[in-house]
Amino acid sequence: MTEPGPLTGRRVVLGITGGIAAYKAVEVLRRLVDDGAHVVPVMTAGAERFIGATTVSALASEPVHTRLWDDPSTPIPHTALGQGADLIVVAPATARVIAAYRMGLSTDLLTNTLLATRAPVVVCPAMHTEMWEHPAVADNISVLRTRGVHIVEPGVGRLAGGDVGAGRLAEPADIVSAVHRVLDHGSAVPRDLLGTRVCVSAGGTREPIDAVRVIANRSSGKQGYAVAAEAAARGAQVTLVSTVDLPAPSGVVDVVAVETAEQMRAAMMAAAAQADVAIMAAAVADFRPVAPSSSKLKKRDGAPTIELVPTADILAELGSSKRPGQTLVGFAAETDDLVANAQDKLDRKQLDLIVANDVSADGVGFAHDTNAVTLMRPDAEPVEIDLAAKRDVARAVIDAIVDIRQSHDAVDRTTTGSRPHHS
Ligand code: CTP
Repeated sequence: MTEPGPLTGRRVVLGITGGIAAYKAVEVLRRLVDDGAHVVPVMTAGAERFIGATTVSALASEPVHTRLWDDPSTPIPHTALGQGADLIVVAPATARVIAAYRMGLSTDLLTNTLLATRAPVVVCPAMHTEMWEHPAVADNISVLRTRGVHIVEPGVGRLAGGDVGAGRLAEPADIVSAVHRVLDHGSAVPRDLLGTRVCVSAGGTREPIDAVRVIANRSSGKQGYAVAAEAAARGAQVTLVSTVDLPAPSGVVDVVAVETAEQMRAAMMAAAAQADVAIMAAAVADFRPVAPSSSKLKKRDGAPTIELVPTADILAELGSSKRPGQTLVGFAAETDDLVANAQDKLDRKQLDLIVANDVSADGVGFAHDTNAVTLMRPDAEPVEIDLAAKRDVARAVIDAIVDIRQSHDAVDRTTTGSRPHHS
């Protein structure tokens, strides 16, 4: 008799489709079986080009299912597998299977099974970066999400053919954790910010010089949007104060459009007065033209002298008006002495966390889809997050925020003997 595991009694259909990452499905399968699940493998014809059905059958709880018509175990495999499942996980999921599932096309046993189930479905995409970022794929993913399909996002790393980028299948351990979470809590991501109000600023501010010209910076807003998306996915009620015109992340309904540092200050101070967590991911101008011209300056009048005055430091203001139990997070874009400069900002602005990045490094910071950061807290050793998709960095930032709030709650409980209360 094998020892019971956390998934004992659970019937999990593992769909494997035709991508180079199919070999990692074997590791997902092994881990699910080790955790006690009854794993029913379904391979597409494409998957069989990458890994052997014999390997999968040998490791799974029953022989692999591959065909719609010639399965001797049941006359109706296309409905039997989906109906009997507690959960279906597709790893790797190619762009083709994602599109078919979104359209409701039943082209083979796996797509039939996906349509003939009421069980939760976890989809783990893996494909080349260009395909993953194609608007058609992005649209299919967002439609699947709105239908309640759980997406385990791909990471950044080596892809087939030696390319490097976003689209690499999530790690088998992370896929199996998502399966556990969906079965236990109905969600692939922990809902550890439920009931928490979070405000996030994103993008670079623009300070007018005259009626048409501005002083701007290179911030794309992508990291701030990723943080807002992750906070919303984890149950927070999010206000996003933004200078950029990106689509609102799913689950974020309250987007406040701003342009200047002063507008951002007003929006963030108002939002933070209601929020449990305030995150300044925006690149705010430190100076603005003192007297912007209301009409366009003319070239014939010669080069203008633009007198600058400092803007308000929003994060420092948020620090001085921080309420007990409120968590304040800043970002620091540095080119030199990263840790020392970020530490100074952490102390000076009374932050609970600072996310520091060396914007001179390859693939880091403004305009990139990837980032590498150091997370610094007043009471803990710095934690380095290696080059990863901005969504993965956002996950690490939110993990740190949850950890900070939980440790504050624990202190509250020991000092007051009562349940924590965040005003
Ligand atoms: N910030 C802010 N208001 C400003 C300037 C910056 O709230 N007027 C916030 C940014 O959103 C970020 C953090 O402060 O979270 C960055 O710290 P800061 O010391 O302002 O960084 P720099 O402007 O890069 O400062 P320095 O020139 O000293 O590096």
